[in-house]
Amino acid sequence: MKNSEKKMDEIISFAKEKGFVFPSSEIYGGLAGAYDYGPLGVELLKNIKDFWWRENIYKKNNYYGLDSAIFKDPRVWEASGHTAGFSDPMAECKDCNARIRVDKELEKIGVRADEKMSEEEINKLFSENKDKIKCAKCGSSNFSEAKAFNLLVKSNLGDFTSKNSEPVYLPGEACQGIYLNFKNVVDSMHPKIPFGVGQIGKAFRNEISPRNFLFRTREFEQADTQFFVKPEENKEAYERIKKERWQWYLNLGISEENLKWSQHDNLVFYAKDAWDIEYNFPSYGFDEVEGIHDRSDYDLTVHQKASGTDLHFNDNGEKFIPWVLETSMGLGRVFLAVLSEAFDLEKLEDGSERRILRFKKELAPVKIAILPLMKKDGLAEGAMEIFDMLAGDYNVIYSDAASVGKRYRKQDEIGTPYCVTYDYDSKEDQTVTVRERDSMEQERVKISDLKEYFRKKFN
Ligand code: GAP
Repeated sequence: MKNSEKKMDEIISFAKEKGFVFPSSEIYGGLAGAYDYGPLGVELLKNIKDFWWRENIYKKNNYYGLDSAIFKDPRVWEASGHTAGFSDPMAECKDCNARIRVDKELEKIGVRADEKMSEEEINKLFSENKDKIKCAKCGSSNFSEAKAFNLLVKSNLGDFTSKNSEPVYLPGEACQGIYLNFKNVVDSMHPKIPFGVGQIGKAFRNEISPRNFLFRTREFEQADTQFFVKPEENKEAYERIKKERWQWYLNLGISEENLKWSQHDNLVFYAKDAWDIEYNFPSYGFDEVEGIHDRSDYDLTVHQKASGTDLHFNDNGEKFIPWVLETSMGLGRVFLAVLSEAFDLEKLEDGSERRILRFKKELAPVKIAILPLMKKDGLAEGAMEIFDMLAGDYNVIYSDAASVGKRYRKQDEIGTPYCVTYDYDSKEDQTVTVRERDSMEQERVKISDLKEYFRKKFN
Protein backbone atom coordinates (compact mmCIF):
# COMPACT_ATOMS: atom_id res chain seq x y z
CA MET A 1 0.00 0.00 0.00
CA LYS A 2 1.38 3.41 -0.96
CA ASN A 3 1.46 6.25 1.56
CA SER A 4 -0.98 8.20 -0.61
CA GLU A 5 -3.57 5.45 0.08
CA LYS A 6 -3.00 5.48 3.86
CA LYS A 7 -4.95 7.76 6.21
CA MET A 8 -3.24 9.32 9.22
CA ASP A 9 -6.48 9.28 11.28
CA GLU A 10 -6.59 5.49 10.91
CA ILE A 11 -2.94 5.20 11.95
CA ILE A 12 -3.53 7.40 15.01
CA SER A 13 -6.50 5.39 16.24
CA PHE A 14 -4.68 2.14 15.45
CA ALA A 15 -1.66 3.39 17.47
CA LYS A 16 -3.90 3.90 20.50
CA GLU A 17 -5.91 0.68 20.06
CA LYS A 18 -2.77 -1.45 19.94
CA GLY A 19 -0.83 0.23 22.76
CA PHE A 20 1.69 2.25 20.75
CA VAL A 21 0.78 5.86 21.64
CA PHE A 22 -1.68 7.37 24.12
CA PRO A 23 -2.65 11.05 24.57
CA SER A 24 -0.95 12.40 27.68
CA SER A 25 -3.13 12.71 30.84
CA GLU A 26 -6.02 11.23 28.91
CA ILE A 27 -8.21 10.55 31.95
CA TYR A 28 -8.19 14.34 32.54
CA GLY A 29 -9.16 15.03 28.94
CA GLY A 30 -5.63 15.01 27.47
CA LEU A 31 -2.89 17.66 27.43
CA ALA A 32 -2.20 19.27 24.05
CA GLY A 33 1.26 18.72 22.62
CA ALA A 34 2.25 15.74 24.79
CA TYR A 35 1.97 11.99 24.19
CA ASP A 36 2.79 8.81 26.10
CA TYR A 37 4.33 5.74 24.50
CA GLY A 38 2.44 2.56 25.48
CA PRO A 39 3.74 -0.99 25.99
CA LEU A 40 4.41 -1.58 22.27
CA GLY A 41 5.35 2.03 21.51
CA VAL A 42 8.09 2.10 24.11
CA GLU A 43 9.63 -0.99 22.51
CA LEU A 44 9.48 0.48 19.00
CA LEU A 45 10.95 3.77 20.23
CA LYS A 46 13.75 1.95 22.06
CA ASN A 47 14.53 -0.13 18.97
CA ILE A 48 14.77 3.03 16.81
CA LYS A 49 17.06 4.63 19.40
CA ASP A 50 19.24 1.51 19.60
CA PHE A 51 19.49 1.41 15.81
CA TRP A 52 20.48 5.08 15.74
CA TRP A 53 23.04 4.68 18.54
CA ARG A 54 24.61 1.61 16.95
CA GLU A 55 25.03 3.24 13.54
CA ASN A 56 26.08 6.70 14.78
CA ILE A 57 28.15 5.97 17.87
CA TYR A 58 29.28 2.33 18.01
CA LYS A 59 30.08 1.89 14.32
CA LYS A 60 32.26 5.02 14.18
CA ASN A 61 35.57 5.08 15.94
CA ASN A 62 35.63 8.87 16.37
CA TYR A 63 32.16 9.40 17.93
CA TYR A 64 31.46 9.50 21.67
CA GLY A 65 28.16 9.22 23.54
CA LEU A 66 26.81 11.67 26.12
CA ASP A 67 23.79 12.12 28.37
CA SER A 68 23.65 15.67 29.74
CA ALA A 69 21.28 17.06 32.39
CA ILE A 70 18.04 18.75 31.37
CA PHE A 71 18.60 21.56 33.90
CA LYS A 72 21.34 23.92 32.82
CA ASP A 73 22.69 27.23 34.04
CA PRO A 74 20.17 29.83 32.75
CA ARG A 75 23.08 31.77 31.21
CA VAL A 76 23.44 28.92 28.66
CA TRP A 77 20.21 29.99 26.94
CA GLU A 78 21.19 33.66 27.01
CA ALA A 79 24.56 32.87 25.44
CA SER A 80 23.14 30.45 22.85
CA GLY A 81 20.77 33.18 21.61
CA HIS A 82 17.60 31.28 22.52
CA THR A 83 16.16 33.77 25.01
CA ALA A 84 16.43 36.53 22.40
CA GLY A 85 16.06 34.77 19.06
CA PHE A 86 14.07 31.56 19.56
CA SER A 87 10.63 32.96 18.89
CA ASP A 88 7.69 32.93 16.51
CA PRO A 89 5.70 36.06 15.52
CA MET A 90 2.18 35.68 16.93
CA ALA A 91 -0.99 37.79 16.66
CA GLU A 92 -4.36 37.52 18.34
CA CYS A 93 -7.78 37.59 16.68
CA LYS A 94 -9.57 40.54 18.32
CA ASP A 95 -12.98 38.92 17.79
CA CYS A 96 -12.43 35.46 19.31
CA ASN A 97 -8.96 35.69 20.95
CA ALA A 98 -7.55 32.77 18.92
CA ARG A 99 -3.84 33.10 18.15
CA ILE A 100 -2.23 32.78 14.76
CA ARG A 101 1.41 32.34 13.72
CA VAL A 102 1.90 35.30 11.43
CA ASP A 103 4.86 34.03 9.35
CA LYS A 104 3.01 30.76 8.58
CA GLU A 105 -0.22 32.56 7.65
CA LEU A 106 1.74 34.90 5.34
CA GLU A 107 3.46 31.89 3.79
CA LYS A 108 0.05 30.34 2.99
CA ILE A 109 -0.85 33.38 0.85
CA GLY A 110 2.54 33.36 -0.87
CA VAL A 111 4.25 36.13 1.16
CA ARG A 112 7.65 35.23 2.62
CA ALA A 113 8.56 36.47 6.10
CA ASP A 114 12.27 36.00 6.67
CA GLU A 115 13.41 34.62 10.09
CA LYS A 116 15.82 37.52 10.37
CA MET A 117 13.11 40.21 9.98
CA SER A 118 12.50 42.57 12.88
CA GLU A 119 9.11 42.77 14.57
CA GLU A 120 8.54 46.06 12.76
CA GLU A 121 9.28 44.54 9.31
CA ILE A 122 6.97 41.57 9.98
CA ASN A 123 4.20 43.92 11.11
CA LYS A 124 4.56 45.98 7.94
CA LEU A 125 4.07 42.84 5.82
CA PHE A 126 1.26 41.71 8.08
CA SER A 127 -0.71 44.98 7.89
CA GLU A 128 -0.33 45.07 4.07
CA ASN A 129 -1.84 41.56 3.84
CA LYS A 130 -4.13 41.33 6.88
CA ASP A 131 -7.38 41.32 4.92
CA LYS A 132 -6.27 38.22 2.98
CA ILE A 133 -5.74 36.24 6.23
CA LYS A 134 -8.74 34.73 8.00
CA CYS A 135 -8.92 33.45 11.57
CA ALA A 136 -9.33 29.65 11.44
CA LYS A 137 -11.73 29.77 14.39
CA CYS A 138 -14.16 32.62 13.51
CA GLY A 139 -13.20 33.76 9.98
CA SER A 140 -12.42 37.34 11.02
CA SER A 141 -9.46 39.40 9.74
CA ASN A 142 -9.44 41.67 12.78
CA PHE A 143 -6.01 40.91 14.24
CA SER A 144 -3.73 42.56 16.80
CA GLU A 145 -0.14 43.45 15.85
CA ALA A 146 2.35 40.58 15.70
CA LYS A 147 4.55 40.06 18.76
CA ALA A 148 7.57 37.76 19.13
CA PHE A 149 6.54 34.75 21.23
CA ASN A 150 9.50 32.94 22.79
CA LEU A 151 9.39 29.15 22.55
CA LEU A 152 11.51 28.35 25.61
CA VAL A 153 9.64 26.71 28.51
CA LYS A 154 10.52 28.29 31.85
CA SER A 155 10.59 26.49 35.18
CA ASN A 156 11.95 26.98 38.70
CA LEU A 157 14.53 25.21 40.79
CA GLY A 158 14.41 25.22 44.58
CA ASP A 159 11.59 26.57 46.75
CA PHE A 160 9.64 28.56 44.19
CA THR A 161 7.51 30.25 46.86
CA SER A 162 10.61 32.11 48.08
CA LYS A 163 12.56 34.89 46.37
CA ASN A 164 15.60 32.60 46.29
CA SER A 165 14.15 30.23 43.74
CA GLU A 166 16.14 30.16 40.51
CA PRO A 167 14.33 30.34 37.14
CA VAL A 168 15.60 27.76 34.64
CA TYR A 169 14.71 27.00 31.04
CA LEU A 170 13.97 23.51 29.80
CA PRO A 171 16.14 22.71 26.75
CA GLY A 172 14.73 24.24 23.56
CA GLU A 173 17.18 21.96 21.72
CA ALA A 174 18.98 18.97 23.22
CA CYS A 175 22.35 19.72 21.59
CA GLN A 176 23.41 22.53 23.96
CA GLY A 177 24.54 19.87 26.48
CA ILE A 178 27.09 18.69 23.91
CA TYR A 179 28.67 22.16 23.52
CA LEU A 180 28.78 22.55 27.32
CA ASN A 181 30.70 19.26 27.57
CA PHE A 182 33.00 19.84 24.60
CA LYS A 183 35.98 20.59 26.88
CA ASN A 184 35.15 17.67 29.21
CA VAL A 185 35.09 15.22 26.30
CA VAL A 186 38.36 16.59 24.92
CA ASP A 187 40.10 16.49 28.33
CA SER A 188 38.85 13.00 29.23
CA MET A 189 38.86 11.14 25.89
CA HIS A 190 41.69 13.02 24.10
CA PRO A 191 40.06 12.72 20.65
CA LYS A 192 41.82 13.65 17.44
CA ILE A 193 40.03 16.23 15.34
CA PRO A 194 37.61 15.64 13.61
CA PHE A 195 35.41 13.87 16.14
CA GLY A 196 31.74 13.66 16.99
CA VAL A 197 29.59 13.57 20.12
CA GLY A 198 26.12 12.04 20.05
CA GLN A 199 23.23 12.30 22.44
CA ILE A 200 19.56 11.38 22.70
CA GLY A 201 17.80 13.97 24.83
CA LYS A 202 14.51 15.69 25.54
CA ALA A 203 13.60 19.10 24.16
CA PHE A 204 10.68 21.34 25.08
CA ARG A 205 9.08 24.08 23.01
CA ASN A 206 6.10 26.21 23.84
CA GLU A 207 4.63 25.58 20.40
CA ILE A 208 1.61 27.81 20.00
CA SER A 209 -0.26 25.26 17.95
CA PRO A 210 0.91 21.71 18.54
CA ARG A 211 -0.51 19.68 15.65
CA ASN A 212 -0.42 16.55 13.56
CA PHE A 213 -0.13 13.99 16.39
CA LEU A 214 3.55 13.29 17.17
CA PHE A 215 4.72 15.70 14.48
CA ARG A 216 4.58 18.99 16.40
CA THR A 217 4.55 18.49 20.15
CA ARG A 218 5.69 20.60 23.12
CA GLU A 219 7.81 17.82 24.60
CA PHE A 220 9.86 15.62 22.28
CA GLU A 221 13.14 13.77 21.97
CA GLN A 222 16.01 14.56 19.65
CA ALA A 223 18.82 12.25 18.58
CA ASP A 224 21.72 14.57 17.77
CA THR A 225 25.30 14.34 16.65
CA GLN A 226 27.66 17.31 16.70
CA PHE A 227 30.76 16.80 14.59
CA PHE A 228 33.72 19.04 15.46
CA VAL A 229 35.94 19.80 12.46
CA LYS A 230 38.73 22.09 11.34
CA PRO A 231 37.08 25.07 9.59
CA GLU A 232 38.71 24.23 6.24
CA GLU A 233 37.40 20.60 6.34
CA ASN A 234 33.86 21.71 6.95
CA LYS A 235 32.39 21.52 3.43
CA GLU A 236 33.59 18.02 2.58
CA ALA A 237 32.49 16.63 5.95
CA TYR A 238 29.05 18.26 5.55
CA GLU A 239 28.44 16.49 2.22
CA ARG A 240 29.60 13.14 3.66
CA ILE A 241 27.35 13.48 6.71
CA LYS A 242 24.35 14.31 4.53
CA LYS A 243 24.91 11.15 2.49
CA GLU A 244 25.29 9.02 5.64
CA ARG A 245 22.09 10.35 7.15
CA TRP A 246 20.12 9.65 3.95
CA GLN A 247 21.41 6.08 3.93
CA TRP A 248 20.46 5.64 7.60
CA TYR A 249 16.78 6.17 6.73
CA LEU A 250 16.99 3.59 3.94
CA ASN A 251 18.61 1.14 6.38
CA LEU A 252 15.78 1.85 8.81
CA GLY A 253 13.38 0.46 6.21
CA ILE A 254 12.04 3.75 4.82
CA SER A 255 11.47 3.62 1.06
CA GLU A 256 13.37 6.21 -0.96
CA GLU A 257 10.22 7.41 -2.71
CA ASN A 258 8.95 8.66 0.66
CA LEU A 259 12.07 10.76 1.37
CA LYS A 260 13.25 14.04 0.01
CA TRP A 261 15.77 16.80 0.68
CA SER A 262 14.87 20.40 1.31
CA GLN A 263 17.32 23.26 1.77
CA HIS A 264 16.43 26.18 4.06
CA ASP A 265 16.06 29.59 2.44
CA ASN A 266 15.45 31.22 5.80
CA LEU A 267 18.25 30.23 8.13
CA VAL A 268 17.73 29.97 11.88
CA PHE A 269 20.02 32.30 13.86
CA TYR A 270 22.84 29.78 14.52
CA ALA A 271 23.09 28.18 11.06
CA LYS A 272 25.27 28.94 8.00
CA ASP A 273 23.65 26.22 5.90
CA ALA A 274 20.74 23.90 6.66
CA TRP A 275 19.20 20.91 4.89
CA ASP A 276 16.22 18.89 6.06
CA ILE A 277 15.37 15.29 5.34
CA GLU A 278 11.62 15.15 4.82
CA TYR A 279 9.25 12.18 5.00
CA ASN A 280 6.03 11.80 3.06
CA PHE A 281 3.57 11.39 5.95
CA PRO A 282 0.15 9.91 5.04
CA SER A 283 -2.46 12.72 4.85
CA TYR A 284 0.07 15.42 5.89
CA GLY A 285 2.51 15.09 2.96
CA PHE A 286 6.26 15.76 2.99
CA ASP A 287 7.65 17.41 6.12
CA GLU A 288 10.87 17.54 8.13
CA VAL A 289 12.12 14.64 10.24
CA GLU A 290 15.74 15.72 10.60
CA GLY A 291 17.78 18.90 10.25
CA ILE A 292 21.44 18.82 9.17
CA HIS A 293 23.05 22.12 10.04
CA ASP A 294 26.36 23.81 9.47
CA ARG A 295 26.62 25.79 12.74
CA SER A 296 30.14 27.14 12.03
CA ASP A 297 32.00 28.19 15.22
CA TYR A 298 28.86 29.95 16.51
CA ASP A 299 28.11 27.79 19.55
CA LEU A 300 31.59 27.27 20.99
CA THR A 301 32.39 30.96 20.42
CA VAL A 302 29.32 32.26 22.26
CA HIS A 303 29.82 29.85 25.17
CA GLN A 304 33.53 30.69 25.40
CA LYS A 305 32.66 34.38 25.57
CA ALA A 306 29.85 34.03 28.11
CA SER A 307 31.51 31.47 30.41
CA GLY A 308 35.08 32.78 30.19
CA THR A 309 36.29 29.18 29.59
CA ASP A 310 38.81 28.61 26.80
CA LEU A 311 37.12 26.33 24.22
CA HIS A 312 39.93 26.26 21.65
CA PHE A 313 41.09 22.86 20.41
CA ASN A 314 44.82 22.33 20.50
CA ASP A 315 45.90 20.27 17.49
CA ASN A 316 49.65 19.75 18.02
CA GLY A 317 50.17 23.40 18.88
CA GLU A 318 47.66 24.77 16.35
CA LYS A 319 44.81 26.32 18.37
CA PHE A 320 41.36 27.04 16.94
CA ILE A 321 37.64 26.95 17.68
CA PRO A 322 36.27 23.93 15.78
CA TRP A 323 33.29 24.28 13.47
CA VAL A 324 30.23 22.21 14.25
CA LEU A 325 28.20 20.08 11.84
CA GLU A 326 24.97 18.99 13.41
CA THR A 327 22.48 16.21 12.68
CA SER A 328 19.29 16.59 14.70
CA MET A 329 16.52 14.02 14.32
CA GLY A 330 13.13 14.19 16.02
CA LEU A 331 12.40 10.76 17.46
CA GLY A 332 8.62 11.28 17.60
CA ARG A 333 8.59 12.19 13.91
CA VAL A 334 10.77 9.21 12.95
CA PHE A 335 8.59 6.93 15.10
CA LEU A 336 5.56 8.20 13.15
CA ALA A 337 7.38 7.73 9.85
CA VAL A 338 8.33 4.13 10.74
CA LEU A 339 4.77 3.33 11.86
CA SER A 340 3.30 4.93 8.71
CA GLU A 341 5.74 3.10 6.46
CA ALA A 342 5.02 -0.28 8.08
CA PHE A 343 1.22 0.12 8.17
CA ASP A 344 -0.44 -2.03 5.51
CA LEU A 345 -3.71 -3.65 4.56
CA GLU A 346 -3.20 -6.75 2.46
CA LYS A 347 -5.87 -8.42 0.33
CA LEU A 348 -5.55 -12.19 0.68
CA GLU A 349 -6.42 -14.79 -1.96
CA ASP A 350 -9.57 -15.84 -0.09
CA GLY A 351 -10.85 -12.23 -0.37
CA SER A 352 -10.23 -11.36 3.27
CA GLU A 353 -8.05 -8.45 4.39
CA ARG A 354 -5.16 -8.65 6.80
CA ARG A 355 -3.87 -5.63 8.74
CA ILE A 356 -0.15 -5.87 9.13
CA LEU A 357 2.79 -3.82 10.32
CA ARG A 358 5.73 -4.66 8.06
CA PHE A 359 8.47 -3.55 10.40
CA LYS A 360 12.05 -4.41 9.69
CA LYS A 361 12.63 -7.34 12.07
CA GLU A 362 14.95 -5.50 14.41
CA LEU A 363 12.43 -2.70 14.92
CA ALA A 364 9.49 -4.97 15.74
CA PRO A 365 8.30 -4.40 19.34
CA VAL A 366 7.66 -8.13 19.87
CA LYS A 367 10.06 -10.47 18.13
CA ILE A 368 8.45 -13.88 18.69
CA ALA A 369 4.99 -14.99 19.86
CA ILE A 370 4.70 -18.41 21.50
CA LEU A 371 1.32 -20.00 20.92
CA PRO A 372 0.08 -23.37 22.25
CA LEU A 373 -2.42 -24.87 19.79
CA MET A 374 -4.73 -25.50 22.77
CA LYS A 375 -4.54 -24.64 26.43
CA LYS A 376 -5.22 -28.25 27.48
CA ASP A 377 -3.35 -31.59 27.35
CA GLY A 378 -0.03 -30.14 28.47
CA LEU A 379 0.33 -27.90 25.36
CA ALA A 380 0.28 -24.68 27.43
CA GLU A 381 3.06 -26.03 29.65
CA GLY A 382 5.14 -27.09 26.62
CA ALA A 383 4.74 -23.64 25.07
CA MET A 384 5.69 -21.95 28.35
CA GLU A 385 8.97 -23.91 28.37
CA ILE A 386 9.78 -22.43 24.96
CA PHE A 387 8.84 -18.98 26.24
CA ASP A 388 11.29 -19.41 29.15
CA MET A 389 14.01 -20.62 26.76
CA LEU A 390 13.76 -17.57 24.44
CA ALA A 391 12.61 -14.80 26.78
CA GLY A 392 16.10 -13.78 27.91
CA ASP A 393 17.25 -13.21 24.33
CA TYR A 394 14.24 -11.44 22.77
CA ASN A 395 11.06 -9.64 23.66
CA VAL A 396 8.80 -12.70 23.46
CA ILE A 397 5.12 -13.01 24.34
CA TYR A 398 2.95 -15.98 25.21
CA SER A 399 -0.66 -16.06 24.03
CA ASP A 400 -3.30 -18.76 24.37
CA ALA A 401 -6.59 -16.86 23.84
CA ALA A 402 -8.76 -17.59 20.74
CA SER A 403 -8.02 -19.84 17.75
CA VAL A 404 -4.48 -20.07 16.47
CA GLY A 405 -5.50 -18.39 13.17
CA LYS A 406 -6.86 -15.36 15.03
CA ARG A 407 -3.72 -15.20 17.15
CA TYR A 408 -1.56 -15.17 13.99
CA ARG A 409 -3.58 -12.19 12.70
CA LYS A 410 -3.19 -10.36 16.00
CA GLN A 411 0.56 -10.78 15.80
CA ASP A 412 0.61 -9.61 12.17
CA GLU A 413 -1.21 -6.47 13.28
CA ILE A 414 1.53 -5.52 15.73
CA GLY A 415 4.33 -6.58 13.36
CA THR A 416 5.65 -9.67 15.20
CA PRO A 417 8.03 -11.33 12.69
CA TYR A 418 7.66 -14.94 13.98
CA CYS A 419 5.06 -17.10 15.70
CA VAL A 420 5.99 -20.44 17.24
CA THR A 421 3.15 -22.94 17.66
CA TYR A 422 3.40 -25.85 20.05
CA ASP A 423 0.94 -28.60 19.05
CA TYR A 424 0.21 -32.29 19.69
CA ASP A 425 3.08 -33.42 17.43
CA SER A 426 5.46 -31.23 19.44
CA LYS A 427 4.89 -33.48 22.45
CA GLU A 428 5.88 -36.53 20.39
CA ASP A 429 8.72 -35.33 18.15
CA GLN A 430 10.00 -32.21 19.97
CA THR A 431 9.45 -29.94 16.96
CA VAL A 432 7.33 -26.77 16.62
CA THR A 433 5.84 -24.77 13.73
CA VAL A 434 7.52 -21.45 13.01
CA ARG A 435 5.39 -19.06 10.94
CA GLU A 436 6.88 -16.01 9.23
CA ARG A 437 4.84 -12.77 9.21
CA ASP A 438 5.21 -11.44 5.64
CA SER A 439 5.17 -14.67 3.61
CA MET A 440 2.95 -16.53 6.14
CA GLU A 441 5.10 -19.58 5.32
CA GLN A 442 5.47 -22.24 7.98
CA GLU A 443 8.22 -24.73 8.75
CA ARG A 444 8.89 -27.33 11.41
CA VAL A 445 11.93 -26.69 13.57
CA LYS A 446 13.41 -28.87 16.32
CA ILE A 447 12.96 -27.27 19.73
CA SER A 448 16.63 -27.93 20.47
CA ASP A 449 17.56 -25.88 17.33
CA LEU A 450 15.27 -22.91 18.04
CA LYS A 451 17.87 -20.69 19.72
CA GLU A 452 20.30 -21.05 16.84
CA TYR A 453 17.46 -20.73 14.29
CA PHE A 454 16.42 -17.33 15.66
CA ARG A 455 20.00 -16.19 16.18
CA LYS A 456 20.46 -16.56 12.40
CA LYS A 457 17.09 -14.99 11.57
CA PHE A 458 17.73 -11.91 13.69
CA ASN A 459 21.31 -11.39 12.57
N1 GAP B 1 19.54 21.49 17.49
C1 GAP B 1 18.93 21.80 16.24
C2 GAP B 1 17.49 21.77 16.27
O1 GAP B 1 16.85 21.65 17.30
P1 GAP B 1 15.40 21.83 14.70
O2 GAP B 1 15.32 21.75 13.21
O3 GAP B 1 14.67 22.92 15.39
O4 GAP B 1 16.94 21.86 15.03
C3 GAP B 1 15.50 19.23 14.93
O5 GAP B 1 14.92 20.44 15.31
C4 GAP B 1 14.44 18.16 14.79
O6 GAP B 1 13.68 18.09 15.99
C5 GAP B 1 13.44 18.44 13.69
O7 GAP B 1 13.91 17.97 12.44
C6 GAP B 1 12.23 17.65 14.15
O8 GAP B 1 12.34 16.30 13.75
C7 GAP B 1 12.34 17.72 15.66
N2 GAP B 1 11.39 18.73 16.18
C8 GAP B 1 11.55 20.06 16.22
N3 GAP B 1 10.48 20.66 16.77
C9 GAP B 1 9.61 19.68 17.08
C10 GAP B 1 8.32 19.63 17.68
N4 GAP B 1 7.70 20.73 18.11
N5 GAP B 1 7.72 18.44 17.85
C11 GAP B 1 8.33 17.30 17.46
N6 GAP B 1 9.56 17.27 16.89
C12 GAP B 1 10.20 18.43 16.70
